[in-house]
Amino acid sequence: MPYSDHIIELSIIVPTYNEHPNVIPMVESLDEALGKFRWEVIFVDDDSPDGTASQIREVAMRDPRVRVVQRVGRRGLSSAAIEGILASSAPFCAVIDGDLQHDEKLLATMLETIIKEDLDVVSGSRYIEGGGLGDWHESRAKISRFATRLSRMVLHADLTDPMSGFFMIRRSAFEKRMHNLSGIGFKILLDIFASSKETLRYRELPYEFRTRQAGESKLDSQAAWEYFMLLLDKLIGHIVPVRFVAFTLVGGAGVIVHMLIVWLMLNQDAQFTTAQTAATLIAMTSNYALNNVLTYRDKRLRGWAWLKGWFSFTLACSVGALGNIGIASYIFAQDTTWVLASLSGIVVGAVWNYAVTSAYTWNKPKAA
Ligand code: GDD
Ligand code: MN
Repeated sequence: MPYSDHIIELSIIVPTYNEHPNVIPMVESLDEALGKFRWEVIFVDDDSPDGTASQIREVAMRDPRVRVVQRVGRRGLSSAAIEGILASSAPFCAVIDGDLQHDEKLLATMLETIIKEDLDVVSGSRYIEGGGLGDWHESRAKISRFATRLSRMVLHADLTDPMSGFFMIRRSAFEKRMHNLSGIGFKILLDIFASSKETLRYRELPYEFRTRQAGESKLDSQAAWEYFMLLLDKLIGHIVPVRFVAFTLVGGAGVIVHMLIVWLMLNQDAQFTTAQTAATLIAMTSNYALNNVLTYRDKRLRGWAWLKGWFSFTLACSVGALGNIGIASYIFAQDTTWVLASLSGIVVGAVWNYAVTSAYTWNKPKAA
């Protein structure tokens, strides 16, 4: 190897969330797979409630190759991988799941390949000869294939498995692209490829996706939304912040909720003012709850923080509504059409609501 004895050749970045039982087996299998190399492992744990971080520290007390970056009040696989790479100095970084589903024995071949062939990225693929999905249900396999097809919109390479979370990257190649990364959701490899103006020199190596032995998958229905947001960010993120788009979509859903409630209550012979007030409150609350799980999933508020957030959100949106009405009335008075006046009010209100709630409601990363 062309490096001096003390220099770490390879940093392995392992994002974790509730992987307590997998920590020791993970370090042991890395040790077995990478015995002859000089490596370190950096776990990036998002303050897992099951105590993953303290488990890692326990191992780290005995093994200096092991470290943990513990993030408080933050969530996200991609952003964890990015911060892990940034916390290391090795010329090559690998990203691998912490649940032993990725085949760590491939790491040695990855390192040899990336050096020998002078590549930027070597990634694990489940879709080339010798790779496989393991025991995935047909339904998940279908979703994954569909997501892969969608990724072609933003991908500037012919990767067979851009959804793979298992890869190695040359630091210099990462540094060239890191300012353009979205860091949204699960798909960090896709993010890297889609953030590249120049094509990356890459190669895919096959691996078989293993069955999870302990703990649970964190991929849920919201992962689909995050994936959609990542694609959108890559497509239009340079024009408008993707969080604003999400916020507006949620707002649109809120209008439907609002109308539905007014309609229901009027059918029950309620007074219009009562119905309008109730609908406003309920729509604001549902907008808040939806934004909390979708738009701000990485900063999601819970418990008391949820309630406090609801207050600031409602307050901000009430002021936004006043601004909306004020602007709309002013423009309407200038002899324009009501549609233009009304839309202007909505745009001003939405921008206000977005700006103020992003600064006050979901301002600081705070775990409850
Ligand atoms: N820090 C951090 N924060 N880690 C997380 C988070 C998070 O919010 N969510 C998940 N992880 C960690 C898990 O603890 C695990 O080590 C790894 O990321 C993968 O998460 P899983 O929940 O096990 O994902 P999966 O098995 O369903 O999905 C896999 O398949 C994809 C291929 O379709 C992952 O391997 C992905 O990396 C891969 O892209
Ligand atoms: Mn997994």
